[in-house]
Amino acid sequence: MKVLIIGNGGREHAIAWKLAQSPQVSKIYCSPGNGGTAAVAENISFQNIHVLAEFAINHGIDLTVVGPEAYLADGIVDVFREAGLCVYGPTKAAARLESSKAFSKAFMKKYNIPTAHYESFTDAEAAKAYIRQVGTPIVVKADGLAAGKGVVVAFDVETALKAVDDMMTAKIFGESGATVVIEEYLEGEEASLLAFCDGKIGVPMLPAQDHKRIGDGDTGPNTGGMGTYAPTSAVTPAVMERIVNEILNPTLKAMAAEGTPFVGTLFLGLMLTSSGPKVIEYNVRFGDPETQVVLPLLDSDLAQIFKDAANGCLDPKTVRWKQDQVAVCVVLASGGYPGAYQTGIPIYGLDAVDSSLIFHAGTKLAGQELVTAGGRVLNIVHIGENIEAAIEGAYADVKKVHFEGMVYRKDIARRELNRYLKTS
Ligand code: AMP
Ligand code: GLY
Repeated sequence: MKVLIIGNGGREHAIAWKLAQSPQVSKIYCSPGNGGTAAVAENISFQNIHVLAEFAINHGIDLTVVGPEAYLADGIVDVFREAGLCVYGPTKAAARLESSKAFSKAFMKKYNIPTAHYESFTDAEAAKAYIRQVGTPIVVKADGLAAGKGVVVAFDVETALKAVDDMMTAKIFGESGATVVIEEYLEGEEASLLAFCDGKIGVPMLPAQDHKRIGDGDTGPNTGGMGTYAPTSAVTPAVMERIVNEILNPTLKAMAAEGTPFVGTLFLGLMLTSSGPKVIEYNVRFGDPETQVVLPLLDSDLAQIFKDAANGCLDPKTVRWKQDQVAVCVVLASGGYPGAYQTGIPIYGLDAVDSSLIFHAGTKLAGQELVTAGGRVLNIVHIGENIEAAIEGAYADVKKVHFEGMVYRKDIARRELNRYLKTS
């Protein structure tokens, strides 16, 4: 089987690494890939969807896997399917679960899927009047894709009003902010649940927890994600059952009923509230860095899962997980991230990392030398028999790696460790 992976992050490196273990996979291409995917795949670089489809046809690609949401929102799956290609991912219509918050909120309301109460607005004055009326805490969200930055959780009215002005009047996210969704503030612990979906059913992966803020103790600005671990005990078997019965299954059933069946990875961003799990957001692709802790714990052939899901015949029994193992991922980022940062900085010490997996996020090869090429640079992933061992192993290897300006969080999985120490 020849596979094409689209994207260039740690997520795509983890997908490539897992697919490379499949006895069915003979060749992997990654577009554009990074310094890490170069070791398991052949990096190519095409941006245009039609050019990518042409490449897939000309090179006899049997399966394409799409990482980033922007390609999905632009309809890459529709184009590939029309060309008769097998592709794992949602169509443009199904991708609206992520690409339009107004769409996904209306969808959840219509099908009684638990989420925060909300109103959506296309008029800034009406949005501000609503905020003044309901008060804070309150959450203001740009409707469209905003690279994870289009959400403002406001604890005072001024902040909420400014968010409306920024999004709707100053248009800091362009047309993504022409519509805003204003919603109820949910309290609880966050969790990410990804599921392999074939258009009819969704098979859950292990629940994970991300660390979105740049600083220890969840301080500072939001990032794409500074670290993860899986599975998280915050999602107990009882909570998992509620997520599957109240959220995952109804979502897939409703998408099929709407004539837009969901194929691909559905990512539920959840708040575990005192009245049960609620959807904060849907994503229509693998999470980054959730993927980096979930896929190493998968005990099945990922290529077979992707193929079956793309063909609408996924068998839940074929999705198995390694038992009694946990994974921790620490993200090494460029100094300045999520703001401005330098690139092209040499990376040292990767050869010394012996007991963890290394997934590259923003790296590239400059001649023979590996250099930084993004905000999130490397993911150090350690598998242990418990959370304490996984954390220790990951940080022991983090200390061996160095590049100028390197920053990372020192408290990844601390919450899980505290729960573990209390019960062990
Ligand atoms: P999103 O981009 O929708 O995932 O939102 C980014 C972050 O904002 C989430 O990870 C939450 O921490 C926070 N957030 C979003 N919506 C809410 C909400 N309704 N209540 C509380 N926090 C929220
Ligand atoms: N880690 C969150 C995301 O991939 O959106």
